[in-house]
Amino acid sequence: GKGEYDHFMLKEITEQPTALAQAIEGRIDATSGRIGLSAFEPGSFEAIDSVQFVACGTSYHAALYGSLALNQAGVQATALLANEYSVAAPPVDETTLVIAVTQSGETADTLNALRQATAEGARTLTVTNVVGSTAAREADDALFIRAGPEIGVAATKTFSSQAVILTLLGQRIATDLRGEPSADLESLLPALESMPSRIHELLEHSNAEAIAEQYRDSQSYFFIGRGLGYPVALEGALKFKEITYEHAEGFAAGELKHGPLALVTPETPVFAIFTGQEDEKTLKNAEEARTRGAPVIAVCPDGHPAVEAADEHLAIPETDSDLAGLFANVQLQLLSYHAADLLDRPIDKPRNLAKSVTVE
Ligand code: F6R
Repeated sequence: GKGEYDHFMLKEITEQPTALAQAIEGRIDATSGRIGLSAFEPGSFEAIDSVQFVACGTSYHAALYGSLALNQAGVQATALLANEYSVAAPPVDETTLVIAVTQSGETADTLNALRQATAEGARTLTVTNVVGSTAAREADDALFIRAGPEIGVAATKTFSSQAVILTLLGQRIATDLRGEPSADLESLLPALESMPSRIHELLEHSNAEAIAEQYRDSQSYFFIGRGLGYPVALEGALKFKEITYEHAEGFAAGELKHGPLALVTPETPVFAIFTGQEDEKTLKNAEEARTRGAPVIAVCPDGHPAVEAADEHLAIPETDSDLAGLFANVQLQLLSYHAADLLDRPIDKPRNLAKSVTVE
């Protein structure tokens, strides 16, 4: 049950320290700098040239996160919407690894893409939460995120766990393809180990409820981010629209000036996510919105230059840029939750939506 919580969503947001600890348990060793993903011994991806992720909704955002991390590690990777895969899949062969990212393991669109990739001769893998799910049975290999059951229709803890597992898997793939571990493993593994306790701290001190209250009468809510902050901006907006029924959009920060800026007014707060990847450019993009009267809420560490430049601040800890966006995402989950709660929405069961979409 929900225990002391009003909603499963808040319970599941709060469970993230435990979910993440379970996700990484036995899989990393910061002292030796080792990543151990039992089924995937070092060298198991040597025959792979490129990676395609297929997924929908929040899982697609986690997949995009994983693909950008792989690109940054020098590996050719793309994230594709599973529901678009049948009309326009890039070519695959036995050197292509197709990774289906799906919490439930039962999403029809994702299973269709997985089956198509299998039929065309790709090697397949699923990253899923559900042992014994269809995706886990049908893919060549399965990697479980171990987040525990998620009841709220809005995916929360499973996004964080997917992104963390995809980060680890990405490092393993990149190591196999390049023959040496990436330099940032030295900072990534300790940052991962401390993530559960730092998320716990963030949850204790978040001012997201006050921010939700402050901007509750806005017309639209925009989320911008760059690099690994971009999938987080998309996810922040999806969560917000899904449970508040208010209009929200996520953009790559640099895209704002290519059209969306026309929508920006004093009635459209802009949540700007800073992950330590070209933050000065994102700050410039946020300032462009602020010049048009939009309130800017900076999601960044204390003491970051964006704090001074913005109207409000949602704090995240100083951490590795591979993980900063995941802390930002937790603040945005809380923002959406409290905004929906103020509007008295049926948070755990938003209208028209189902937890698992088993139709095309
Ligand atoms: C949004 C949400 C959906 C799912 C999507 C894929 O909060 O939960 O967008 O992420 O339907 O579901 P899975 O991950 O089960 O394939």
